[in-house]
Amino acid sequence: TFVVLEDCIQCKHTDCVAVCPVDCFYEGPNFLVIDPDECIDCALCEPECPIDAIAAEDEVPADQQHMIVLNAKLAAHPNWTVITEKKDAMPDNAEWAGVEGKLKKLDR
Ligand code: SF4
Ligand code: F3S
Repeated sequence: TFVVLEDCIQCKHTDCVAVCPVDCFYEGPNFLVIDPDECIDCALCEPECPIDAIAAEDEVPADQQHMIVLNAKLAAHPNWTVITEKKDAMPDNAEWAGVEGKLKKLDR
């Protein structure tokens, strides 16, 4: 499966969702995730993200391993819904690009 990494938090460019053939991206207030049970490993989404916030599960960096479980957990969150069309990134995305420790900013 592929995994959305912390960098997406508070950015949400959404280029990724438009290319997914199985519509397995789920959106929350300031982040989105991939449902590992639905992802077919096509790898189409990975190059679409302008900030490289998507990785194959076996290439998730050591300091982002918690994101693997978090993607699965949030994909099942009752308030997180499927997103299939690109929309505007979050208004303050430029300020948050590359900021470390964004996990504490995550809204569920
Ligand atoms: Fe969708 Fe393919 Fe990305 Fe999986 S790898 S989330 S199936 S675009
Ligand atoms: Fe996030 Fe990148 Fe998709 S910022 S919404 S993973 S294009």
